[in-house]
Formats: sequence, structure tokens, C-alpha cells
Amino acid sequence: MFSKETYIARRCELKKLVGDGLILLFGNNESPANYPANAYYPFRQDSSFLYFFGQNRDGLVGVIDVDSDTETLIGDDIDIEDIVWMGFVPSVKDLAEEVGVMNSAPMSRLQALVDDAKAKGRKIHFLPPYRHDNMIQINNLLGIRPDGQRAAASLTLIKAVVKMRSVKTAEEIAEIERACAIGYKMHTTAMRLVKPGITEKYIGGQVDGVAHSYGAMVSFATIFSQHGEIMHGNPSLAPLEAGRLVLCDAGAETVNNYCSDNTRTMPVTGRFTQRQLDIYRIVEECHDYVLQVARPGVKYMDVHFAVCRLMAERLKELGLMRGDVDEAVAAGAHAMFLPHGLGHMMGMDVHDMEGLGQIHVGFDDETRPNLEQFGTNCLRMGRRLQEGFVVTDEPGIYFIPALIDDWRHRGHCAEFLNFDLLETYKDFGGIRIEDDLLITADGCRFLGEDRIPYHPKDVEEFMGS
Ligand code: GLY
Ligand code: MN
Ligand code: MN
Repeated sequence: MFSKETYIARRCELKKLVGDGLILLFGNNESPANYPANAYYPFRQDSSFLYFFGQNRDGLVGVIDVDSDTETLIGDDIDIEDIVWMGFVPSVKDLAEEVGVMNSAPMSRLQALVDDAKAKGRKIHFLPPYRHDNMIQINNLLGIRPDGQRAAASLTLIKAVVKMRSVKTAEEIAEIERACAIGYKMHTTAMRLVKPGITEKYIGGQVDGVAHSYGAMVSFATIFSQHGEIMHGNPSLAPLEAGRLVLCDAGAETVNNYCSDNTRTMPVTGRFTQRQLDIYRIVEECHDYVLQVARPGVKYMDVHFAVCRLMAERLKELGLMRGDVDEAVAAGAHAMFLPHGLGHMMGMDVHDMEGLGQIHVGFDDETRPNLEQFGTNCLRMGRRLQEGFVVTDEPGIYFIPALIDDWRHRGHCAEFLNFDLLETYKDFGGIRIEDDLLITADGCRFLGEDRIPYHPKDVEEFMGS
């Protein structure tokens, strides 16, 4: 948790940006796995609630009355029976005071607060909910059915929260650096363990264990798979096979809930084949190119397409693509290999603020998404970069057999693709290299003091050591 002053200043800024009305920020509740007392662990608080109210306990709602300039932390104190099972938990009043909130009240007060605001015709602001229990609570409080709640969420509040959370302060950057340091240990643990015969699940479990052993958690379900071409390929029970590549996409989330997100792809034997190297070097070049061009004022969508053109140029040299590179990228032919965007915002959520609506996070009035073109419709971040943004740089090249078959069958982008050669890559898998980029005053830098090895020579040396 940051100092009380941080949370006070954040709420103060939020009040200015929102202007008027009653703001409800719902914290999360425990999420039962199969019966109420057996909840998924660790508990994950809502990020926007954490950002403004700091407290990592279930069953809380933060209320900010902008008009009367009063703030209340709502929640029920635990009773003696709870203490028997959970140990001591501070009172809601103490939790409130710790983050500079003057008032606290039990959950039973919330309905009256909301009814009073409704009766006076005041605005009631809430963020788009993503957990069903919170949807039920909003339904009970405001009479808005769950299927209408995203549309009824306050655009003013969403825009204010996105504006604030997008620009990371020095103390937030320091926290992300801590997550990256744990991420480094997660990834290098995987690199040390990779060898033929070990199962994906074993290494995936070790990677997760590193995060937990530092008091952190994983920032998303670890991807560790020889099927790197499957975007979210969770570890299977399959043993690693000599000759294949294995992709590890994993990150940590610190006790203060800031994330890291890195991907490395390595040869199971510790040595790349020439065919693997040919593709790997293209991804490496694309990844490094971003360092030279990402800076304040540049649209991340433009960086994405510059990377797509570089990738297409190199794939053309290998004979996998053909024709005019600009035309190929304009037609979306590169999405055969790279069907996702170059990166996304990262912070308290690994895809930062995605729950608030990607359109508000990655785009603005000037930069609109293209929702029609396959691949381009997956861009999560397109708008101009600003100092303090943290975005991922994660180009990849994937050979997805079903996509090759589908496009070939439909003749899609046939003038730009060499389908006969693509056929021979159906057993290749996929390569992604991902690091987290801080946009600085005049450029950018990778976060994390230690670079997880990714240049081919460094990967081979590290795996051989
Ligand atoms: N870890 C998911 C992603 O890289 O976006
Ligand atoms: Mn990512
Ligand atoms: Mn990732």
C-alpha cells in the first residue's frame, strides 16, 4: 500500500475530473470455487477500488460524494466467529483512516445513500462491472439489470479513471520494476529447467511457484507451451520434445498489485535450428525496433504498422510473403503471422483497465479502432503515447495450421502469401518476445533491471550454462 497522501490526492483529482454526483467504487468479494468457504486464492481486489481506496479486503465499497466532498468506506466488520477462522482483521473504520477516508459505515447503509441520491435526481457514477456478484449488488441498489449495466456505467467516471491510471507515477513505476524483478526470476527458472522429457505443467508450476514464493501472484494464467501458435496455450501434461520451441509468457503481480508481462521463446534442446533462427531473428528485430521509435506523441498504432511492414519485408525475404509490402499490410496479409496487436497498456491489470472498455483505454477521438480487419481488430493500444505510459512490446510470428487452411481455402490474401511454403511450417509453432516499455520524456526504456535473455546467443549461452 502507498501512503495515505497518495490515496487522498488521487480521490481529490478524481472529484475534480468527475465534477458532480455520487461515485460508487465496488471492491471485489471472495470468489467461491465450489462452496462459499473454499474461495479462489489469492483474493484479487478490483484495481480501480485499490487505486483510490488502497484496501485489499473483500466486501468493501468506496463512496465519494463529489457535491458534498465526503468520502465513505462501506463494509461490515467481522465478528468473533470470523476471527476464530481468519484471525484478527482491522475494523472498517481503521481501514478507512489508513487511507485518509473520514467516514465508514456498514453495508446496510449503502442502499439509503443511493436512494437519497436517486430521490434528488443526482448522478450516480459506477464503472462497468465484470463480476456477477457485483452485478447483483448494482441491480439491487440501482434497479439496473446486469445486461444493461455496462451501457449504464458512467462514461465521465470511466474517462477520469483511465486518464489517471494511464500515467504511472514514480512510485507506481518502482512497483512495476519490482514485478519485473520477480518476472525475471520466473522466466530464468523456466529457462534453466527446459530440457527434453520434462512436462510443460511441471515447468509452468515451478514458474508460478517462484511468483508465490516472493509473496506475489501471477499477473495472468501462465502460458507455457510448445504450441506457441496458440495465443493462450496453458501448460499441458505433454513432455518437452527435442527439436521443438517452447514459449513462456508469464508475469508477476506484486503484493501491491502491479504487474509484469514478459514472453520468451526457447529451443527445447537449448540450441536453435537454422529454420527456427530465421524466424526468431525477425521477431527479435521487430521487438528491438520498437525501442527506437516509441516516444511521447507517437501513435502506438503507427508503431504497430511499422512493425508489421518490417515483419512483412523480412518474411518476403524468406519467401513466405510476396508482393508489395505496403499493400500486403494494408490488406491485412501479415495477420496470417501476427494476428494480434503489438501491445497493450500494463499496470495494476496486466491488460491495464481492459475491464473499463478497450475503446476508452487504447483509443480516443483521434485514433479509432478498426474492428473489421482480422488481426487489426485485436489492437488493444492505438493512441498517442504519453510520458508515464507503460505498454508492452510483444511482436510474434505464429504458424497456425487451421488459419493457413482457412485462408488457403478462401484464397484470402493469396497474392501476398506463399501457401505452398506455409504448408511446410505447420509443425513450427510460434515465437513471441515481450517486454514492458516505459514511455519517458524523450523516448522509452524497458522496465526491469535485468533483461531476461532473448538475443539468440544469450538464450543459448544461458540454457547451456
Ligand atoms: N500475457 C498476455 C499478453 O501478453 O497479452
Ligand atoms: Mn502482453
Ligand atoms: Mn504476455
